[in-house]
Amino acid sequence: MKGVEWLVLILLLVLLGCSEDSPVKTQQPPISVDTLYTSSLFPIGAAIDPNYLRSTSSYHTVVTREFNSISVENAMKLGWVHPQQSVYSFTDADYIVSYAQANKKRVHGHVLVWHAFGDVTWLKNFSGDTNDWENLLKDHIQTVVTHFKGKITGWDVVNEAFHDNGQLRNEDTNLNDASDDGSIWMRMLGTGYIERAFQYAHAADPDALLFYNDYGQEVNVAKLNAIKAMVKDFQERGIPIHGVGLQMHIGLNTPDAGIVKAIKELAETGLLIHISELDINISNWVKNPDLKLTEELKQEQKAKYKSMVLAYKQNVPAAQQYGITTWNVGDADSWLRSFHQPNEWPLLFDDVYKPKPAYYGFLEGLKE
Ligand code: G3I
Repeated sequence: MKGVEWLVLILLLVLLGCSEDSPVKTQQPPISVDTLYTSSLFPIGAAIDPNYLRSTSSYHTVVTREFNSISVENAMKLGWVHPQQSVYSFTDADYIVSYAQANKKRVHGHVLVWHAFGDVTWLKNFSGDTNDWENLLKDHIQTVVTHFKGKITGWDVVNEAFHDNGQLRNEDTNLNDASDDGSIWMRMLGTGYIERAFQYAHAADPDALLFYNDYGQEVNVAKLNAIKAMVKDFQERGIPIHGVGLQMHIGLNTPDAGIVKAIKELAETGLLIHISELDINISNWVKNPDLKLTEELKQEQKAKYKSMVLAYKQNVPAAQQYGITTWNVGDADSWLRSFHQPNEWPLLFDDVYKPKPAYYGFLEGLKE
């Protein structure tokens, strides 16, 4: 071989030695990295958007690395899976479930019955008697639960049935405030729609864990008490309920005392406890177009995430720890950016999925 050929051969060998799956590379000791779920004794979840999961590789990577439970942010809601009265469509929801199965993640289904079903024209225009509405409720729940039978660990069966004052949503009390909306289910079917929703879901999949899910229990004692009373009543009458979800859309200033009280008192029911939609907003719900994410606020958010995790660990017995789920992954994915204000940073990862101080606060809470 000529000198130049030797040179080419040597270069080729060097290049092969550095390729992706070369023995040289795989012989490196694995880098030990703690992730959220590998640092936790209970499941750590995120609410997932199927479009981001499909199209954004950094989103896919972070979800796969950090979480072992997947909640479905929107894709199992009535408007998504039941777009016409006689049409069901599970494409997006199935995509999430397939991803979860392929990656060994638990799936938490959200949500079977909610007063806020958005622009579902057919349902808004649905006219029928009590019987028709009951059949509609039953058909919806049982078709969806049966479709996912055996693939979904738990379901949010009924979501946000109570007003903050502890009364069941009924009529719309304030047309300018969506949080005060009434419930068509209550108006058409009366109080019993809640327990029947649980019974219908249980009949369709007796192995699924069934949750009641609501927000603001940490700040509205009347609502917390109403939910506890409903749970107690269900338990006494044998209505199948296995868990309560505290959504926990909170702000930096939400008092820790209320958070601890709600978690502790709900855990006393003996049911599973899910922090089901956690995010911690910087603005404390005050619209402020000049708000900036300063280093100080980042550290405050870090401390709040840590205290949230500790409140859960310290007040929920291990056997009742269904897990903590954040409501999506990166700040830019958060519902708060569109529903509240664009300059919000409520989650654990920034807009490009880099872990924020909040992430490290969460991790510290898990490890402490
Ligand atoms: O996907 C469509 C898009 O095609 C369309 O162009 C666009 C125009 O409006 O809408 C997009 O859908 C939006 C969807 O979010 C996805 O971004 C819907 O309009 C919007 O209503 C929907 O909002 C969701 C909201 O629930 C209402 O369903 C939020 O993402 C979701 O985070 C929020 O989640 C709720 C929980 O289910 C219950 N607890 C409170 C929580 C926060 O509000």
